[in-house]
Amino acid sequence: MAIHIDQTAPDQPGEPDGHGHGQPGHGHHHHETPEQAASISEVLDLDAEVLADYLRGVTGWVAGLLPAGAGRVLDLGAGTGTGTVALAARFPLAQVYAFDVDESMLARVRGRAEVAGMADRVNTVRGDLDRPWPALEPVDLVWASSSLHEVVDSAFVLSSARAALVPGGVLVVIEIDDTPRFLPDDFVLGRPGLEVRLRAALDLVQSRWGHPDWASHLDAAGFSGVGQRTFEIDLPHGEATGRYARAYLARMRPALAEQTAAGALEADDLAVLDALLDDDSPESLLRRDDLHVRGSRTAWFGRA
Ligand SMILES: C[S@@+](CC[C@H](N)C(=O)[O-])C[C@H]1O[C@@H](n2cnc3c(N)ncnc32)[C@H](O)[C@@H]1O
Repeated sequence: MAIHIDQTAPDQPGEPDGHGHGQPGHGHHHHETPEQAASISEVLDLDAEVLADYLRGVTGWVAGLLPAGAGRVLDLGAGTGTGTVALAARFPLAQVYAFDVDESMLARVRGRAEVAGMADRVNTVRGDLDRPWPALEPVDLVWASSSLHEVVDSAFVLSSARAALVPGGVLVVIEIDDTPRFLPDDFVLGRPGLEVRLRAALDLVQSRWGHPDWASHLDAAGFSGVGQRTFEIDLPHGEATGRYARAYLARMRPALAEQTAAGALEADDLAVLDALLDDDSPESLLRRDDLHVRGSRTAWFGRA
């Protein structure tokens, strides 16, 4: 039977303060309105749908690092469970533990596990990664996707991850390298190069996509055989691509509007973005059939 631990009750605050940068569509949930929080969940869920091939690729690669499979897996900062469910599918005998500070995320993990018929193997642990972790039996794999950049004390989290692993167990840390791109190369609305300019404007205000190179941090935490691999993502238009692009770009719009006000982005570029985001516009992302998802993610690994 699955277990659900809540170590934040009764006197710990439910959410940590002072997280680092947040990526669009990610992080900073404690300062956000319910609408924005919902859109984070939407992006995370859509990741599972749109990036299913990428997820199969990356979990297949991880399985190659664990020739005997995994009996127990810990997903750090699990969000809505995109990694949790992919890992439970990859390791059909494993108990998978989704660890997150946010109960609304963990409720979604449980819902998805139920739908996937994995409720007996998917466990949730509510707690703050920056505080001493609840005692769990040692795990064979620790997975931290788009979450390590959010903690306050990554050295503490990495040493806790090492302590949570069986000897020889594997840690995998994944980060998104860049804002994904969606528009086709021959996109003609407005001036050519819209996405390049949107990204440049975002880069001015955010180190958001800039994550550390975690290799030296894994070394410093005592992991051995540290290495990394980049996964390129280049997916043709699919059923959920428009919703995915819309969710991402809508998350970025407030920062882009600020950049327009500050003179770092031309108003006509913001107007084209608004046409793409307007579901009633003929240019709407939801109506297009020529979107790609292009981007890359880096995975670091090491052994306890
Ligand atoms: C960007 S989401 C990534 C979710 C998921 N790993 C994925 O790839 O879809 C980051 C998650 O980390 C969680 N998180 C951030 N800081 C945390 C902390 N100190 N302790 C526990 N969870 C944390 C957030 O609540 C959020 O669900």
